Amino acid sequence: MSSAEAAQSAQSAQSAPPTTPHVSACEDYEVKKFLGFWNKLKGAITLPAKLLPFIILHTLDPVLFLLNIFTLPFPRAKPETQHKWTTADKLLAKACQLSGWGKITESDKKMILSALNNYNAPGDEDSRSPCPGLNAMANHGFIPRHGKHVSLSVICLAIKKTYDFAPTFAYQLTSAAGFISKSSGDGKTWIDLNDIAAPNVIEHDASLLRHDRMFQPDQGPPAVDLCERTLQFAHPAKQPGAPGKKGQNCLNTESMSKALYERRLICSSNDDPQRESKVRNGQYFLPGKLKIFGAGNSAIPLILWDGREDYLRPFFVEERLAYREGWHPYTRESPAGFFGLSFLYFMLVFAKIEHGVGSIFPKKKKE
Ligand code: HEM
Repeated sequence: MSSAEAAQSAQSAQSAPPTTPHVSACEDYEVKKFLGFWNKLKGAITLPAKLLPFIILHTLDPVLFLLNIFTLPFPRAKPETQHKWTTADKLLAKACQLSGWGKITESDKKMILSALNNYNAPGDEDSRSPCPGLNAMANHGFIPRHGKHVSLSVICLAIKKTYDFAPTFAYQLTSAAGFISKSSGDGKTWIDLNDIAAPNVIEHDASLLRHDRMFQPDQGPPAVDLCERTLQFAHPAKQPGAPGKKGQNCLNTESMSKALYERRLICSSNDDPQRESKVRNGQYFLPGKLKIFGAGNSAIPLILWDGREDYLRPFFVEERLAYREGWHPYTRESPAGFFGLSFLYFMLVFAKIEHGVGSIFPKKKKE
């Protein structure tokens, strides 16, 4: 190419219209900008819809709490209620769906309604959590027995039906799993039960039923020695003034405070190399938030089984519901109340337990 031809071609290149890649980069930018804006707008529009179930359920909870008190003298719903899809179940399923937890399908419904006294201990491949409440539901088939890819909607409805929770409390408790759940494109939010063991999210040290992670890396199976130790805090049936109506050994809020106090004392001890203490567990961690979860977890079985040792032992040790021993939700004996166990009632019991632990710990002297 001559120098004149080269100069001409350079000039024509300069004056040439913008090339296609340049145009598409601009368009791409505009499209991305629009999509970003659209997603923000969509988020802002759907936020009230997502918050709505939360707001409604929290407003409703104190009402259910009061109704439970007022309806105490009336006959309780029958055990068959566990196998019926009630209006409250329908509304709760809708609230879960609105929250993006997934739709309850006909087969989910069938699974939740037909499970009962068909306990199977978990197999090696099954996913299990440090929570006996969730594991027991899987062991009885209220949620898939393998414990994997379980939608939060299924967990929520199963908690309500299995334990006779008020919809308000079932929803509130399930939202705790939101911290660790995953969302898939099919509009479902789900967990494997084992995900619940994520350290220091809800799972924590100084638990009543599991050794600390340092000593028990697999937080799935219960530590039977600790379960038995907790049950030893039960008041003997024949002791005057002992709690419990059935002449059974029973735990009460004071027993739970003492059990939690003992675990926290042992695990946080700086001078006991023989035990599960901080001396051997450099990663020991129990901030206030996790203490609250611990006391909360201990309050639920206490309320559901009225502290009865004969009902609590299978739940703690085998993660089995005490149908064989005579327990059934939805009966007059169940302390949950006519409308199921409310969040407010749970909060009162849990606060009593945590306050009890605080009052046992020696107060620090003021300087
Ligand atoms: C989606 C709902 C639930 C979530 C996310 C959840 C989460 C957890 C977690 C992470 C733990 C381990 C805490 C620790 O390290 O000690 C736990 C323990 C526990 N949970 Fe749940 N749980 C749920 C529902 C339930 C239900 C329905 C019950 C009772 C029926 C229950 C009763 C318990 C008990 C008794 C413990 C043992 C506490 C201890 O060892 O000190 N939970 N839960």
